[in-house]
Amino acid sequence: MYVLQLSCIQIAIALLLFTQAKSTTEERFAHTNGMITSCIASERFALLTFRSGLSDHGNLLSSWKGDDCCRWKGIYCSNRTGHVVRLDIRGTDCRSGDGPWQVLAGNISSSLLDLQHLHYIDPSCNNFNKIQIPEFMGSLHKLRYLNLSRSNFIGRIPPQLGNLSNLRYLNLETLSYNIYSTDITWLSRLTSIEHLDMTGVNLSTAVHWLPAVNMLLTLKVLRLSFCLLGSSPDSLQLTNLTSLETLDISDNDFHKRSTPNWFWDLSGLKYLDISFNGFYGPFPDEIGNMTSMLELDLSVNNLVGMIPSNMKNLCNLEVAIIAVARSIKE
Ligand SMILES: *[C@@H]1O[C@H](CO)[C@@H](O)[C@H](O)[C@H]1NC(C)=O
Ligand SMILES: *[C@@H]1O[C@H](CO)[C@@H](O)[C@H](O)[C@H]1NC(C)=O
Ligand SMILES: *[C@@H]1O[C@H](CO)[C@@H](O)[C@H](O)[C@H]1NC(C)=O
Ligand SMILES: *[C@@H]1O[C@H](CO)[C@@H](O)[C@H](O)[C@H]1NC(C)=O
Ligand SMILES: *[C@@H]1O[C@H](CO)[C@@H](O)[C@H](O)[C@H]1NC(C)=O
Ligand SMILES: *[C@@H]1O[C@H](CO)[C@@H](O)[C@H](O)[C@H]1NC(C)=O
Ligand SMILES: *[C@@H]1O[C@H](CO)[C@@H](O)[C@H](O)[C@H]1NC(C)=O
Repeated sequence: MYVLQLSCIQIAIALLLFTQAKSTTEERFAHTNGMITSCIASERFALLTFRSGLSDHGNLLSSWKGDDCCRWKGIYCSNRTGHVVRLDIRGTDCRSGDGPWQVLAGNISSSLLDLQHLHYIDPSCNNFNKIQIPEFMGSLHKLRYLNLSRSNFIGRIPPQLGNLSNLRYLNLETLSYNIYSTDITWLSRLTSIEHLDMTGVNLSTAVHWLPAVNMLLTLKVLRLSFCLLGSSPDSLQLTNLTSLETLDISDNDFHKRSTPNWFWDLSGLKYLDISFNGFYGPFPDEIGNMTSMLELDLSVNNLVGMIPSNMKNLCNLEVAIIAVARSIKE
């Protein structure tokens, strides 16, 4: 493996940019301390109904008792209105370290619809491996953050999620293609989305994925790694993805020439990963125009020839992984 470390006088500035990018992609939410608020009875009832559909052998929700649901673990209420605004029931199924095993399974009750002020739901790292992502989640209009990462849902992603026009963060990451979408036009209706992660989602039949994505004017981070994608258009007539900073389309099945390709027009990119895709042909000259680039991974494709000399224009570049022996993927 050749890891090219390009040093540059701007290295300090590059590092600064890196930290800034990190903190802006992390959503921040106001926590309330529950001192002033107390739980709204109908919302408490909805939460108890929701819990009764779950199996909770690791006692993740053991604190869910008593009248003030705003004090229950993972529940946050607005200190202004008293409504439940945030549901954080992340399990431990992604964690490698020690600690109690706490993983929810079972059913997701539509009683959550009685929590119409929810703007944040995180049931990641649980094991809902018998059910689909519920369609009704698309009716929680105030949602800004929905993290279903590695929650192990199965089946079709409900297109109703496209109704979540306030959503800024959507994570559908899964490990084993166990969720899929055949027609992803619903994506184009996520008009506030900034961060979209569909790593591991089976998109093998979603042929027109790029036009849908290209409608997302606010998108900053797009991860479509391991999606079984087969088409990478040569160009977008007009790229709407001017806010995009991170693009990860590694580990798909493009098997086409490295250039032309639509992503070379995204000159504002800071992170680009197109590794493990079967791209072939010469190293693309277009790289030289991507002067914002901090990290670039072109490895495990079939690129040949010289690294373009105009790569020296990339003064912010910290890491470039250019080539790796082809046998690694198998
Ligand atoms: C309500 O929460 C906000 C944000 O966390 C905080 O700034 C404000 O002081 C809180 N108001 C009261 C009355 O506690
Ligand atoms: C989930 O729903 C199914 C079908 O209605 C039922 O058989 C199962 O027992 C439920 N699981 C739990 C944990 O309640
Ligand atoms: C979403 O959930 C995954 C798994 O728990 C976690 O790694 C990731 O940081 C979460 N995203 C955010 C923005 O917190
Ligand atoms: C939500 O989306 C579905 C399918 O995309 C659509 O049929 C439905 O009318 C939408 N519902 C609302 C309330 O907007
Ligand atoms: C992906 O989905 C397609 C149909 O949508 C299916 O034929 C194929 O077997 C799935 N691939 C995997 C690895 O699950
Ligand atoms: C860019 O976005 C606008 C507004 O959402 C949309 O009308 C247009 O079709 C998009 N352009 C392309 C090339 O997809
Ligand atoms: C780099 O950008 C310039 C100006 O936009 C353009 O004329 C040129 O063709 C680009 N070079 C490559 C190799 O794409």
